[in-house]
Amino acid sequence: MKEIKVGLIGFGTVGQGLADVLFSQRERLVRRTGMSIKLAGIADHGTLELPERFKDIPLTQDGMQLINDPDIDIIVELIGGIEPAKTLVMQAIAAGKHVVTANKALLSQEGSDIFAAAARQGVEVGFEASVGGGIPVIKVLKEGLVANKILSIMGIMNGTANYILTRMTDEGIAFDEVLKDAQQLGFAEADPTYDIEGIDTAHKLAILMTIAYGTPITHKDIATEGISQIEPMDIELAREFGCRIKLLAISRNHGDHVEARVHPTMVPQDHLLASINGAFNAIHFCGDTVGNILMYGLGAGSIPTGSAVAADVVDIARNINCGSIGRVPALSYLPDQMQARRITPMDELYGPYYFRCTVLDQPGVLAKISGILSKYDISIESVIQKGRKKVGAVPLVIVTHSARESAVSAALAEISGLDSVTAPIVKIRILEAE
Ligand code: HSE
Repeated sequence: MKEIKVGLIGFGTVGQGLADVLFSQRERLVRRTGMSIKLAGIADHGTLELPERFKDIPLTQDGMQLINDPDIDIIVELIGGIEPAKTLVMQAIAAGKHVVTANKALLSQEGSDIFAAAARQGVEVGFEASVGGGIPVIKVLKEGLVANKILSIMGIMNGTANYILTRMTDEGIAFDEVLKDAQQLGFAEADPTYDIEGIDTAHKLAILMTIAYGTPITHKDIATEGISQIEPMDIELAREFGCRIKLLAISRNHGDHVEARVHPTMVPQDHLLASINGAFNAIHFCGDTVGNILMYGLGAGSIPTGSAVAADVVDIARNINCGSIGRVPALSYLPDQMQARRITPMDELYGPYYFRCTVLDQPGVLAKISGILSKYDISIESVIQKGRKKVGAVPLVIVTHSARESAVSAALAEISGLDSVTAPIVKIRILEAE
């Protein structure tokens, strides 16, 4: 039986998940591929001994040993971060190895170098696990939706942030405590600010947009806000307005320009994305021929993400076996068909908003604030004041009709300058029905 040899660099949460999946599914994979997919070496500089079930696999601390091993067909990079991951991936490509990676930070920043080098060398780069954990979203976009112009992408793409918001909403647990649980469960990035500040979601949206539109996008092109400013009070107020707060990635294809943003969003309770809870992710595409597609599943965790890495390994093994390497271009579009496009400035976007101002409870304050909003052509849908204080400040919450982002920014800057406004204003965008 033909054997495909895999070298694994990085034996952390996802690396262990891959090893477990290849181990537990080995007979099924033989039945499905007619090949033996063998983990032929593991490199990890923090691991001195492998678990008993993997004791026959050679362990090294040096990834280059696997890259230089002529018997290894596929290098799997699961160390994360930019360096030394990029150097190892480029060395593997230069050595003629196919590469599989889950490294969304690397691909969303350095993807063009990596994909160009792989195309020159005639090797494959698989990256299913970089977006959506166990959900096979990349394959769906590259192959299942190949006959579509993708009109929009929207989703919950970070399990940690969604887990935190869900437990804060449903159990009223404090942010820091839930974050600790998420870290223990193996969802969070090595630096959890990537999860909380929306950076990990922006990495993933950049990868999806690149494939969906055939346009090179980096995470720096994406306007990004995280969930660290969200307070329990906002979660409670969102509930009163019939919404749940979610960290959403949103992109719309306007033809010559594309929207690209990640921010906390108030999602109406009857919207499908409002019911995506815990570490689950959901990714929605609208294609011009297929219409709407929604994919749902575990977006983080060792075994689900290991399942996605294993799927890439199997795809490459099958292509090696059939002599069909490069059958599907890495980014779905042919490399010479990738086209740059303008990113729509946030200032040009429209939508409804929630503002929470902290104000002195005095006559005329609401009139001043509504006067400023009216000056910028922002129409109020509802206003709530919470509590009553002769001395001190109270929250004043305003929900608007659809307004232009540039007008909202200008109005909030002016409102923040009022003497009666005593703390920074919290602004959350509300998801508008399509
Ligand atoms: N830290 C990521 C998350 C892991 O929480 O979704 C999967 O990319």
